[in-house]
Amino acid sequence: MLVVVTHPLAFHAVELLKKKKYQLRIHREQRFLSQKELMQTVKGAHALLCLLTDRITADVMDSAGPNLKLIANYAVGYDNIDLVAAGKRGIVVTNTPCDEVSQAVAEHTVTLMLALSRRIVDADQFSKKGKYHGWDANLFLGSAVEKKTLGLIGLGRIGRRVAEIASASLGMSILYYDVTRDKEFEQTSKASYASRERVFKKADSISLHTPLLPQTRHLICKETLLLMKPGALLVNTARGGIVKTADVIQALKSGRLGGFASDVFECEPAIACSKQECKELARLSNVILTPHIGSATLQARTAMARLAVENINAVLGGKTGTCVVKTPV
Ligand code: DGY
Repeated sequence: MLVVVTHPLAFHAVELLKKKKYQLRIHREQRFLSQKELMQTVKGAHALLCLLTDRITADVMDSAGPNLKLIANYAVGYDNIDLVAAGKRGIVVTNTPCDEVSQAVAEHTVTLMLALSRRIVDADQFSKKGKYHGWDANLFLGSAVEKKTLGLIGLGRIGRRVAEIASASLGMSILYYDVTRDKEFEQTSKASYASRERVFKKADSISLHTPLLPQTRHLICKETLLLMKPGALLVNTARGGIVKTADVIQALKSGRLGGFASDVFECEPAIACSKQECKELARLSNVILTPHIGSATLQARTAMARLAVENINAVLGGKTGTCVVKTPV
């Protein structure tokens, strides 16, 4: 059976796959495949181990041919895969949700929120540029997060972990919105459910943990930004497309938004889209941009690799994968 791996980044998975009797075709260069190269590379594959940067379209699936049984995404999110096309072709899609990823992304989210609250990145630049000339009572005056409200949009595995850390360790109140309400979680973690509008209105910091879907694309836009408390902080470790970058830039410039930290970008790998009004994101103060490293801990990446390979072993062995994504039929 041929397993195609689209990038050497999935190095842990490659080590595990090598122990099996698969024929392996691994793209070994440290660059992403173009769509044309991807279509060439997947030919004849029984399973495809891909990254969130690979766009797995109907054409890619057809190029792989009738052997293709499984698309094993090395990520929790799967908005890079055409699920309808996979469903129509009877191709199983799997992802890699696990505690290690939730912990890593939650830690990164909380780090970004705290860094915004205390203006750590601007303060770091200030010091490194030699601008610190003496203690000043007002220098980089931030705000404590304790007793403040953290608003979560989305309460999946990662949103929950963020809620637990922020509530138990930082003493924050948690207000969340999700399409499904979880009363049990509310009791165990002291989180309160609210409408999306109310979360925007009441939260001091807002963190996004929803998948990118047609319904969530540009959820953060002029209208929702206007609902937020003046000076609120916004953190996005989910998917770039949930935020309309141009509107966030306007809100930062007007002071409506007090800070913005993002690990993901609308036009990834570019940090802002090529539109003129988006180009200045990186130059604004109290903006922190990290290069999609939310799950970048050794523990999370090792667990993701293990899960991706478990999924491949299961599906190619005629069983059900561990983390099967529902595909429309
Ligand atoms: C995911 O898993 O979807 C993250 O964005 C990358 O690990």
